[in-house]
Amino acid sequence: MIDQEMPLPPCNFVIFGAAGNLASIKLLPALYRLELAGKLPDSLNFVAFGRRDWDDAGWRQNVKTVLAVGLKASGETLAKFANRFDYLRGDLDDPAAYQRLKEVLAKPKLGVCSNVVFYLAVKPDDFQSVIKHLDGAGLSKPRGLHRIVVEKPFGIDIESAQMLNQLLHRYFDESQIFRIDHYLGKETVQNLLVFRFANTLIEPLWNRNFIDHVQITVAEQVGIGNRAGYYDKAGALRDMLQNHLMQLLTLVGMEPPPALEADALRDEKVKVLRSIRPIAKQSVHAHAFRAQYKAGVIDGTLAPGYQEEPGVEADSVTETFAAAKFYIDNWRWRGVPFYLRTGKRLEKQLSSIAIRLRYPPQQLFRETPLETLEPNWIVLSIQPEESMHMEIHAKQPGLGMETRVVRLNASYRNDADALPLDAYEALLLDVIEGDRTLFLRFDEVEWAWRVVDPILKCWAQERDFIHTYPAGSWGPLETNRLFDAEDTEWRNSV
Ligand code: BG6
Repeated sequence: MIDQEMPLPPCNFVIFGAAGNLASIKLLPALYRLELAGKLPDSLNFVAFGRRDWDDAGWRQNVKTVLAVGLKASGETLAKFANRFDYLRGDLDDPAAYQRLKEVLAKPKLGVCSNVVFYLAVKPDDFQSVIKHLDGAGLSKPRGLHRIVVEKPFGIDIESAQMLNQLLHRYFDESQIFRIDHYLGKETVQNLLVFRFANTLIEPLWNRNFIDHVQITVAEQVGIGNRAGYYDKAGALRDMLQNHLMQLLTLVGMEPPPALEADALRDEKVKVLRSIRPIAKQSVHAHAFRAQYKAGVIDGTLAPGYQEEPGVEADSVTETFAAAKFYIDNWRWRGVPFYLRTGKRLEKQLSSIAIRLRYPPQQLFRETPLETLEPNWIVLSIQPEESMHMEIHAKQPGLGMETRVVRLNASYRNDADALPLDAYEALLLDVIEGDRTLFLRFDEVEWAWRVVDPILKCWAQERDFIHTYPAGSWGPLETNRLFDAEDTEWRNSV
């Protein structure tokens, strides 16, 4: 939500876990693309904090290699980008390393600005150490200018999230804390608000009278890569559903906020989360389903099973696929199931929100071939393509009463439009500028944990069996048991 015309303030940007997966896959590419787009001010410097034994030159070379492989980057811009970095070798739990960080931040090159961002691209287990030691070195101040960015998952359950929040608040003010959920930086996700609240055509349909159910899917083709250490403890429910998918649910379900302000928006999102019907202990199996991939073929290539991935326990029952059904018990949504699913190593990469409308009240076409009319859908595709469309019926030209489904395509990108910023690009600019609109307030995180808590507890106890699905499939058929109606099935296309 950054003002593109405003020059960015000078800033020192410290990345903890700089050599880790998140930094290599998301942060460095996003920052580099901002460099390419000319959006980084000259006065922006990076400090990479990591355990490996590099010096500045070694780290800069590593940045170049990562980006050359990932983005085919080269040339002067890449060199300029890499030269913005200083490297600080240190252990996250060594207080002396934070003293060294303080010295690095005070160097003449970096000392031009007091605006500092600390980005915690580290495992949740390490948050506590970093937060305490930053404060120990006096780096949590000044209050207004030093910011801390915390990646999800924020805690591993409601209790640990509350503890983490208390810890953060002991050393940082809320105005300094940026809880990131990068799905909120995605273009289609933001567009959902415009689609819903800027169109009189849509909003009257957006309720239990017209909507049969909602499906939210985030399907990935990738596996867990080299993230077993984190993922095997987290699983799909904590990694994706509690945060990214739950955020999508709130944006679909919320009431219009009184103003487009950060807190007004968050208030409405929290109301949705609070209205979600709690899942009783004995009903978890009717509401949630988990599974794990076994070996299979994706796009013609053999993919190993989850238990064969490096670093995963041979008898792990961590879920790589999670699906759940929620009801929002309020005037707008009572009785409308929201089906959420996410999985790794699925047939295709696909993130979408698919809304199925009810059948017309009168079956006027009962005696015609239209008897088995498909229902109308509104489909928002988040990735790989960004699009929105509605599917409605129209009569096929000719003598018979045949119909076909016509797509009303609300494609919102013109050829002349600038390429979209990737979610991380948009959010990193917001962090540098200090705009918290697209970041989470703690009560959102807390309520989202409360919603999934019964599922987490039940799955944590059932350690001897997990359903499986072949890599390259759409997940196990048994997920269909979540559906309320027999004519419901997952929509695997947009
Ligand atoms: C991250 C998860 O938050 O989101 C990853 O930890 C997942 O497991 C990633 O792969 C998906 O993000 P995107 O933007 O590629 O859909």
